[in-house]
Parts: sequence; C-alpha cells; structure tokens
Amino acid sequence: MAVVNVVPVPLRTVIKTGSFTLPEGSIMPYVTKKIDKNILGEETYILEVTGQGVTVGASTDCGLFRGWQTIKQLVNTAEGGELPCMKIEDRPRFAFRGFMIDSARHMQTLDELKTMIDAAALFKFNVFHWHLSDDQGFRMEIEKYPRLMEVGSVRASSDFGNRHVNEPYGGYYTKEDMREVVRYCAQRYIDVIPEMDMPGHTTAMLASYPALSCSGEELPLRTTGGIFPEILCAGKDETFAFIEGVLDEVMEVFPSRYIHIGGDEAPKTNWRKCPACQARMVEEGLRDEEELQGYFANRVQDYLRAHGRTAVCWNESLKSGMLENDMIAQMWMDKEGLSADWANSGGKVIVSDFFHYYTDYPYAMTSLSKTYSYEPVVKGIEPAAEENVLGVSACIWTEYVETLEKMAYMTFPRFAAVAETGWSYAALKDRPDFLQRMRALVPLLKKMGVTPAPVAEWNPHPAKKAKNMVAFFTENINGDMVRAFIRSKKEV
Ligand code: ACM
Ligand code: ZN
Repeated sequence: MAVVNVVPVPLRTVIKTGSFTLPEGSIMPYVTKKIDKNILGEETYILEVTGQGVTVGASTDCGLFRGWQTIKQLVNTAEGGELPCMKIEDRPRFAFRGFMIDSARHMQTLDELKTMIDAAALFKFNVFHWHLSDDQGFRMEIEKYPRLMEVGSVRASSDFGNRHVNEPYGGYYTKEDMREVVRYCAQRYIDVIPEMDMPGHTTAMLASYPALSCSGEELPLRTTGGIFPEILCAGKDETFAFIEGVLDEVMEVFPSRYIHIGGDEAPKTNWRKCPACQARMVEEGLRDEEELQGYFANRVQDYLRAHGRTAVCWNESLKSGMLENDMIAQMWMDKEGLSADWANSGGKVIVSDFFHYYTDYPYAMTSLSKTYSYEPVVKGIEPAAEENVLGVSACIWTEYVETLEKMAYMTFPRFAAVAETGWSYAALKDRPDFLQRMRALVPLLKKMGVTPAPVAEWNPHPAKKAKNMVAFFTENINGDMVRAFIRSKKEV
C-alpha cells in the first residue's frame, strides 16, 4: 500500500487505483477548491486525488485551508512524482490545538514568528498562545503605561543558568507588529491568545511601576530565570485599574475570545505581610492567600467577561477552589489533580503537561515518543467530562532559546507530535507509523526554514540519555538556580 505521509494522520484515507502525475511547476492549476455546506464542521475537509488533479471540499474557508495543508504534505512527500489516487475525509478530535511561544525571555523577529506560525499551520494548529510578559521583559506596546516599554522591556543582562551575556537585552512589539501577527495568523485560521502573566512573574511590570507591588520598593528586571517573591499587590485598587488599562489595549489589538492571565508560580510571602492584601482578605471574607489569588483572577475575569472575553489561567489558580466556572484552566504541573476535578465539575481545560509538552527540555528528558504517546484526557477525568478537555497546547519557553534555529530544533518534531494528538483520534495514532511520516516531512519543514532535530536525536537510546541530560543541565542550569527553584517551589 502506498504511504500517505500526512501529519496529523487523517481520520479516513482510502487509496484507489491510478495516480496523478505531479506537474513540473505549481500544483495550483490542478487543485479545485469547493465550498460545500453539506460538509459538517468548521475544520472538516474532504480531499480527492484523481488522475486529473486534486479536489478539496469543505463548508468553510478554514476547512479548505486545513485540506490545503494536507495537499502540501502529500505533494512534497510524493514518491517518483506520482500521487496515488485517494479519498481523505478528515476532521479534528479537539477544537483547541495550541502552540505557545515565550517572547519575554528572548524575543523573536516578526519573520521568525511567521516562520514558526507557518510550520504550525502545516500541522493544523489553530491557536498561537503568545507569552508576552514575564519577570525578564514586558513585550507589548501599551500607550497608557509608557514605562512598560521604557523600563519594562529592557533588562541589564541575561544570566540564564550558566549563560551570561553582560549587556542590556530589550525590545517590544508595537501595536502594528502585534496586529500583523494577528493578521498573519488569521489568514491561517489561527487565533492568537496573548498572555499577560499575573499576579506572579510580574517583575517587569513592577520595575516599571513599583507602586503596584506590596512594598512599593524599586527593583530591576530579573536577568535570571526562576520564581520571584515580588508580585502584584492584590490589596491595592490601583493594581486592578492598571490591569484593566493594560487589558483595554490588549483587547484592542487581539480579537481572540480568550485572553491568558497567567496565574502560575505566585509566591504568597509578600501578600502575607502586606496590610493592604490582608485588609482585602478581611473585607472579602477570604480564608487564605490562595483564596486571595482566586479573588484576583475572578476580578480580572469579571472585567474580561464584561468585554465579551474569557480568561485562561494556569492550573495553580485552581488552588483557590473558587474560580468562576467560565474560566479556562491550562494544566501544566498539577500534582493534586485539580484540573481533572475542574473538568469533572464542568470547567474547561487545556492540556500542556510539563513532562510531555514542554519542548524547552532536551529530547533525552522528553523524547519524541514520550510526547507523542501522551493521552491528554488524563486519568481522573470522568468519561462524561471528556468533552471539557478543549484540547492541547505545546510550549516553548525561551530562557535557553535565543535563535530560531534553536527553537526549530527544540519544537520540531515534538510540536508535530502534539498536533497529531490534538487532531487525530487516539485509536488512529500509531507511533512507528508517525515516525515514518514525520521523517518524510523533514525536507518540507527545512524548505520552510524550520530545521527539526536530527532523526537520531528524536528518541535517544537509553545509554545516551543520561549523557545528554547532564550536557543540557551543565550547559544551561547552575546549582544556585536549581536550589533557588526548589526553595521557591516550597513557598508557592
Ligand atoms: C509555567 O510553566 N510556569 C506555566
Ligand atoms: Zn499587597
């Protein structure tokens, strides 16, 4: 049987007799696109290869676009210039298939982002989660708060793990830049979800506007990775006025229904000591600082909801036990299984499991097969609540990712493995088959400017794993950082 090198693997493929001989030049004149309202589902498409060419049908332009990605893969992997005649009927398992890029630790140029977006579109991702603010940089132009750019976008040096670059690092995306990214994604039927992390991971905001922290002390942007005690004060009303002012401009640029408000890794040390935070807890009848974080998230969600938007937050926000039920939880590290409880009680969940979907760690730790084999409807989610898993999202954090080359190496093919889990029904997934299809797609990815990790590194031999892990941690992470991380985890 002919090999159909398509990732994610389509729902149904029937190979027929005969083949279509690919033209010397573009295949475009031989492709017929048809809108057919009888085809159900926004992303569903039906594709037929006959001796004369290729027809793709869908009820929407989005469906046609998804089908076009399949054609691109088929054409670029066809053997001997012949495409076997076939019929493909295809639609996604999950409605949410995201990829996250961190532009706070290191920024990407617009061209680099577009290259990544094109590669993601090829695998039928439909959400770009854009991490735009953190302790080491605030990257959005916000006209109302110019110090976010003047101060918050520039750190004095970069000291991630063992890497030191002793010169300022800075930059931000103008509104026009961000609109261009939104437009570029929209042409590929990808929504852009911007993330402004809060109340933790906000050193860049606090360096710009120190009055927003509990102590009001001046502090510089962080130059190292980690979790830091200075967070937005939940007791001061000016904090919420600031957030709303920023979100007004965020919503003006990003039309997406979802806005990510972070909520991860927020140590409560300062909240415990802060008279304003403590007074807020009394006033609102909140039992502890976790509930104060719940109050914080709900207050921001109320604001977003009033503007027709919905907040997404990392799973730590669930610890309060009081999140408004229309918020979306993104699971990344959740030992207590709160995300499963959230789904079981009717809440919506996006799955970005650290051990499987974080592609900033080496293949020796998170092999391609490990990423591929992960089932996002995790244990603990009751069958009746499966529909509350909106989908999956793969992440690339950029403390150690300064270039597009490194990003391409870390994310591909692991992003593609997440894409197949997000799009293809679990029963259709087949690891050896995926590896074969993925191998066939490497030249196309390279042609698009994304050079994936070499095949030999996708699933390191056990004997090599330890060596590669040691190399990664020696190169990137020093002992001080690991100790600081463990300390801060205890505090969180
Ligand atoms: C996270 O990785 N702190 C969401
Ligand atoms: Zn406070």
